[in-house]
Amino acid sequence: MYSEKVMDHFNNPRNVGEIENPSGVGTVGNVKCGDIMRMYFDIDKQGVIRDVKFKTFGCGAAVATSSMATELVKGKTVQEALTVTNKAVMEALDGLPPVKVHCSLLAEEAIHAALWDYAQKNGIVIQGLEEPVDDIAEKAKDEEY
Ligand code: FES
Repeated sequence: MYSEKVMDHFNNPRNVGEIENPSGVGTVGNVKCGDIMRMYFDIDKQGVIRDVKFKTFGCGAAVATSSMATELVKGKTVQEALTVTNKAVMEALDGLPPVKVHCSLLAEEAIHAALWDYAQKNGIVIQGLEEPVDDIAEKAKDEEY
């Protein structure tokens, strides 16, 4: 049911933890399943994401997608980080079962929330970044549950 990569990132999640005084931090949840994901970014003066940590209180797919999402955004600029969509994360994991697609939306939205926080703190605009939602249940309603 799950790819080897999903199982690997679930069993050995990368970048778990917190960053003290992060450049940006974002928390999103899904009221339908009760899962919560928090993402911390350390961003340098050039706008490059130097370090990423996450904490996920959620299902295995949410843990695996947040782990992979941190790997994908690390080293990217804040602008490039927008290319790390839930689809990109799923592709990198060799797919997710249809009922678990919504879990990957948590990862995308947590990235957006952390970037939004960074942009707010620094008074900058990240082109293409929309204000994130606290609860992705609304956004995910078109996805298969
Ligand atoms: Fe809630 Fe996976 S079931 S994020």
